[in-house]
Amino acid sequence: MEKERTLVLIKPDAVAKCLAGHVITDLYNLKLKMIAMKLVNVKKELAEKHYESLRDKPFFEKLIKHLTGELHGKENVIAIVYEGENAVKKIRDAAGKTHPEEADFTSIRGKYGRVDSRTDCFENVIHASDSRENAEKEIKLWFKK
Ligand code: PPS
Repeated sequence: MEKERTLVLIKPDAVAKCLAGHVITDLYNLKLKMIAMKLVNVKKELAEKHYESLRDKPFFEKLIKHLTGELHGKENVIAIVYEGENAVKKIRDAAGKTHPEEADFTSIRGKYGRVDSRTDCFENVIHASDSRENAEKEIKLWFKK
């Protein structure tokens, strides 16, 4: 199988709780290659572009406030590109289900995520590209030349 690339965003909830090292260790065990990494102070415009396809969802504003760090003391995002065979699926499997309370307890979201009872926001620790095609689009957005 040929190599593919995928984007991981360690979200502000995880950075605020000092979970980035744990997440990176879990992903390290997948034996993929980390080919780019940076700390991003996410502006509203970037967050809206990233979640463009979800603009009509009732939770859109919350999603934007989460990614820009507004819900977590203006915390940053860590953006990482991984490369390797089956990278998209391997990382999605390790992340677990989107809803942290439905995620397997051995997955990243199952171990470290929660739903904030005050805001109903999914503090689900990471975003991981859901297809090879979306991964390429997202990598271009977050790692502009
Ligand atoms: S949908 O409705 O099926 O298209 O949405 P879904 O695939 O489940 O989720 C898409 C992204 O929206 C995030 N999401 C939320 N974030 C915060 N709070 C709430 N309530 C919420 N509901 C959905 C979800 O985490 C997905 O983002 P990523 O970054 O990929 O996890």
